[in-house]
Amino acid sequence: MHTDILKQNRTSWNTVAGHFNGVDALPAYGPFAQSEDELRLFDSIEGKNVLDIGCGSGHSLLYMNGQGAKDLWGVDLSDSQIDRARETLNGLDAQLYCAAMEEDIGLPEQYFDIVYSIYAIGWTVDLDRTFKLIHSYLKPGGTFIFSWDHPLYVHLKSEDGLISLNGSYQDEGSVHYPNFKGENAPMTIPKRKFSTYLNALVNAGFTIEQVVEPDVPQEFKETEAEISDRYYSLYKAQKFPTSFIVKARK
Ligand SMILES: C[S@@+](CC[C@H](N)C(=O)[O-])C[C@H]1O[C@@H](n2cnc3c(N)ncnc32)[C@H](O)[C@@H]1O
Repeated sequence: MHTDILKQNRTSWNTVAGHFNGVDALPAYGPFAQSEDELRLFDSIEGKNVLDIGCGSGHSLLYMNGQGAKDLWGVDLSDSQIDRARETLNGLDAQLYCAAMEEDIGLPEQYFDIVYSIYAIGWTVDLDRTFKLIHSYLKPGGTFIFSWDHPLYVHLKSEDGLISLNGSYQDEGSVHYPNFKGENAPMTIPKRKFSTYLNALVNAGFTIEQVVEPDVPQEFKETEAEISDRYYSLYKAQKFPTSFIVKARK
């Protein structure tokens, strides 16, 4: 396992945590992407045991609580994020762990009805191990839903609104950001093809039920977006999905 990358990313996530307070949290699935309010991917949440992988500031767990989930569990690499999650979930009985999703920290097996992850899975340095662990946490028939950057999105270069392919989609290395979010926070994010995610799910024993390449939210469908070269923009998202979402079952 790339423990050096995990160590670096943990320190940097502690630095940038403030940029992500409540960002990328349910009901949202990703930037300029349709949300759970439109997509309705979760089965009933009422009374279910749920585990959030990369729970960040805890806002998705708060959403789950609002939907009537019973047991709330979350794992995140960054202790700053876990501290924020504790604040967000103040007064609620949530089990929060500061740990890498790739690590077996002894979470209960066959215990969860729902495991989900909003914009965190792609950080794993060991996708196969992460999916196998998640599979082990789920009860038979349990659901795993995750969202992440669309694997092609990182390659979309926009200049004056003209979009071209940057780099090679074929290369599955990693992307290094020396100053993530403009901070002194070096981050390394693995780069994988779409098929790599799907095949890893199948290899871990999941059945894939639904794959979504979300459109922009309904309220933006008819908006004439201003030309923008920003990494995430409505202009780009109206032409290509920022994110992908998978619903899989054990
Ligand atoms: C964009 S945030 C996710 C936000 C979160 N879904 C929410 O509801 O607020 C990504 C999170 O992934 C966490 N992360 C990054 N690498 C990780 C890893 N290897 N294991 C566990 N968490 C990780 C980061 O600390 C960060 O909190």
